[in-house]
Amino acid sequence: MTANRPAAVVVLAAGEGTRMKSATPKVLHRICGRSLVGHVVAAAGELAPEHLVVVVGHGREAVTAHLGEVAPAARAVVQQEQNGTGHAVRIALEELAGGGVELDGTVVVVCGDTPLLAGETLARLTEAHADGGNAVTVLTAEVPDATGYGRIVRDGSTGAGAVTGIVEHKDASAAQREIREINSGVFAFDAKLLASALTQVRRDNSQGEEYLTDVLGILRAAGHRVGASLAADHREILGINNRVQLAEARRLLNDRLLHDAMLAGVTVVDPASTWFDVAVTYEPDAVVHPQTQLTGATRLGAGAEVGPGCTLSDTVVGAGARVLHTVADGAEIGPEAKVGPYTYLRAGTRLGTGAKAGTYVEMKNADVGAGTKVPHLSYVGDATIGEFTNIGAASVFVNYDGVAKHHTTIGSHCRTGADNMLVAPVTIGDGAYTAAGSVITKDVPAGSLAVARGQQRNIEGWVARKRPGSAAARAAEAARDAGAEGDEGAGQQG
Ligand code: UD1
Ligand code: CA
Repeated sequence: MTANRPAAVVVLAAGEGTRMKSATPKVLHRICGRSLVGHVVAAAGELAPEHLVVVVGHGREAVTAHLGEVAPAARAVVQQEQNGTGHAVRIALEELAGGGVELDGTVVVVCGDTPLLAGETLARLTEAHADGGNAVTVLTAEVPDATGYGRIVRDGSTGAGAVTGIVEHKDASAAQREIREINSGVFAFDAKLLASALTQVRRDNSQGEEYLTDVLGILRAAGHRVGASLAADHREILGINNRVQLAEARRLLNDRLLHDAMLAGVTVVDPASTWFDVAVTYEPDAVVHPQTQLTGATRLGAGAEVGPGCTLSDTVVGAGARVLHTVADGAEIGPEAKVGPYTYLRAGTRLGTGAKAGTYVEMKNADVGAGTKVPHLSYVGDATIGEFTNIGAASVFVNYDGVAKHHTTIGSHCRTGADNMLVAPVTIGDGAYTAAGSVITKDVPAGSLAVARGQQRNIEGWVARKRPGSAAARAAEAARDAGAEGDEGAGQQG
């Protein structure tokens, strides 16, 4: 997509976004795993511009810090007062020029609040711009409701002629407000013509601002070519001004991500209740059941089946693994492994091939070998477990002494009993067993059975003495009588 590599892309992101009613700057609100401005700079990045400039204003410390993380190549230019889109682009160009950057070629301008804009669409715009030999090419769209948008004004009574200018909604006549073709706010400009036209933009409009859109009329009047490129899908240029539009954009982007996944061979049982982030990857024949959210760099291997009811973040699910009703964050689930239902895998969990983390099991920083099973009601924290070991139900890896975390190491082919407390640091050798109910505080050598629990003592007749007349006492008495008769019967036969 770098055939028409622009000299610069300028992203406008200085506006306040008042209608979000938020302490967070508008462009930092997130959908599908990226901030709004993050989506825009990602699309801009696909053009491989020589310079990527983001005009910041409201919340500029937060926005600039965020850009440092997601787009280190981007240069933030501060617009102190938001005097309009034309003003924003003018100061961006002036700051570049002041820094000795002489832009030559195409400058693309986009808004920081249009997260659905695809890099491909930008590439088509720059292509149309180059092919037409235009001074400016505007990305337009036909929308069902053009309220609030700048209208594309064309030559001739049919309205189908060349673009003559853009008129803002607030400045439009009743007839112009009938126009359905709108300005997306995305443009490709000739850098030098843009810089000179911006010096001629006036503030004599209803908002008293420097409108970038006025550049079209100025260039046209000076005899330059003004072109338009119509977006195939108007929803792509949706600008986010409030949280209703934020949700709408999230839904649209999610639909796009699921659409791509399905065409790539992933079965999505219920797209309406399935949510993907942009960084999610997958292989064919993965199956996603309802009520599932995959975030971050989550990956589904071939034939892996997740859901219903899974929330997986930055988690790798191996080929053929089965995960249901699970929350996982930063986990690696091996091929053919089984997880759930009702399982919580935290950061640093690694399940080997065919391993199992069953019902009401929580794991953290745990390396679980191939074929090893932790089937029920257990906490496995800070542990290394070998292969084909079975951890008894209701076991706790006691990793925290109140000050520091300690590690437990268990070998291969071990059988730990139910209800064990494994007090770290502790090591259990290969092939060892532990008795049910043990509190293991000392290392267990390979092949040993460790028994670490109190001895059982039965105090006969205690209930009859201490709870006379109770239901328990009557039941005990009946059992004793029945036992005596049974003994007699057996005695007669023998
Ligand atoms: C703008 C366009 C309009 C178009 C619409 C598309 C102008 C004059 N109007 O209107 O034709 O249909 O976008 O969504 O360009 N910004 C700055 N600094 C400023 C002013 C704005 O950085 O001084 C940024 C905003 O943060 C925003 C973008 O520019 O990301 C657009 O500004 P906004 O006020 O939303 O313009 P609209 O009225 O929507
Ligand atoms: Ca807007």
